[in-house]
Amino acid sequence: MKLDYIDLYLVHWPVSVNANGVDTAISYLETWKGMEEAVKLGLAKSIGVSNFNEKQIQEVHNKAVIKPVVNQFEINPTLTQHQLVNLCKQLSVLPVAYTPLGLISEARPEFAGIDVIKTDPKLGGIATKYGKTRAQIALRYLIQRGIPVIPKSFTKSRIEENLNVFDFHLTDEEIDIVDNYNLNHRCVPGKGFEKYEYYPY
Ligand SMILES: NC(=O)c1ccc[n+]([C@@H]2O[C@H](COP(=O)([O-])OP(=O)(O)OC[C@H]3O[C@@H](n4cnc5c(N)ncnc54)[C@H](OP(=O)(O)O)[C@@H]3O)[C@@H](O)[C@H]2O)c1
Repeated sequence: MKLDYIDLYLVHWPVSVNANGVDTAISYLETWKGMEEAVKLGLAKSIGVSNFNEKQIQEVHNKAVIKPVVNQFEINPTLTQHQLVNLCKQLSVLPVAYTPLGLISEARPEFAGIDVIKTDPKLGGIATKYGKTRAQIALRYLIQRGIPVIPKSFTKSRIEENLNVFDFHLTDEEIDIVDNYNLNHRCVPGKGFEKYEYYPY
């Protein structure tokens, strides 16, 4: 990367796989020791994890000398993740939402049929009330739950749209409406990883 250090370094998944796709079953607790070493060497300012489930984040937190500051996992209106979010907050681990648009985005055509959130008039009504899009309401819902969001777009207007979510406030009732779209549906189940020992889901 040609950098002296990076600000935040994450363990991407709790599984451990070699270059040939073979499960090396190295415990994420072992990996965490290497992450701590990266901080001690000044290579990373902060360290965290991604895709760790409740048991895994609790275990790392218990055993760590340098605690994880972030757990990045999928959170959106159709995967609300209250239990894992609450646990992370209790542990002072910041939950960060990847795939924050979930089934609202056009990126998930394979889930057609369960993506009623794209057309449901209740969400449309909230969007119209604030002069925003469904995507912006989803991002705002997460932000008001205290969850940083990392939407991705290659489209300039959408990048701007995704930044323009700090000039309105959803009511508690509206937060509940968005929350009720929950299906416990994962857009990113990490299917290829299912066979590995430390697969989290
Ligand atoms: N840690 C992990 O394991 C993990 C897993 C998955 C993702 N991530 C990270 O999370 C970030 C986002 O995840 P993601 O790309 O899966 O999901 P996302 O940001 O929820 O959705 C991206 C898709 O939504 C579209 N989009 C973006 N803004 C929109 C808007 N305002 N209205 C309508 N559509 C919009 C994009 O299309 P256009 O580009 O055409 O605008 C793209 O197809 C990425 O940076 C990714 O690296 C991390």
